[in-house]
Amino acid sequence: MKRILVIFSHPALQRSKANRELLQAISDLEGVTIHDLYQHYPDLFIDVKREQALLGEHDIIVFQHPLYWYSCPAIMKEWLDLVLEYGYAYGPQANGLEGKQWLSAITTGGAPESYCQAGYNNSPLLDFLRPFSQTARLCGMQWLPPFVLHSFHKLNDPEALRRCGHEYRQLLLALRDERLSPTQLDGVAYLRDLLEVI
Ligand SMILES: Cc1cc2nc3c(=O)[nH]c(=O)nc-3n(C[C@H](O)[C@H](O)[C@H](O)COP(=O)(O)O)c2cc1C
Repeated sequence: MKRILVIFSHPALQRSKANRELLQAISDLEGVTIHDLYQHYPDLFIDVKREQALLGEHDIIVFQHPLYWYSCPAIMKEWLDLVLEYGYAYGPQANGLEGKQWLSAITTGGAPESYCQAGYNNSPLLDFLRPFSQTARLCGMQWLPPFVLHSFHKLNDPEALRRCGHEYRQLLLALRDERLSPTQLDGVAYLRDLLEVI
């Protein structure tokens, strides 16, 4: 069984619907550690050694957050800047993250059809995730197809949100229990495309 660390960033969890639902859906899973960055570091002073130790105890690192300005909330950027140090995460002989898997679990306000050349976001969502996928690769990590919840039309439909939470839970379980082969994972753009095979 792989150990999963969910690094969660949301500056206003009390106002969240999508991320709160996703978190709740995985909160009782064995082998899954949820690490809420804003809760641990309200002043943004990140304990780098503690974070690196936590990473060392896990195999799959999930970055769960809402998409903010085509990127992540500020604390996650601060976390990346500080924790992924030269000599630890990248550089000659750096192997702190070698072989671990990176899963971005992202909620968006924009609808799926807005994320294409003809849509008002002008590009596929995967294009906006390039800084994350390339960071993962530079650190010797395996980039997994992201889990994406386009939440805008679901926020007022509690049943649809619950279904998304359930899907997230099922997919994390499949990753934890290694029920998805590398070929399956390489073969899709989005993790939810694999719901049929798990
Ligand atoms: C500061 C800010 C920036 C945002 N930027 C984007 C964006 O670039 N693209 C997008 O689709 N939605 C964007 N949104 C909408 C959020 O992604 C959306 O409200 C969130 O994913 C819903 O999750 P929650 O209910 O957990 O807050 C933004 C929202 C805020 C507050």
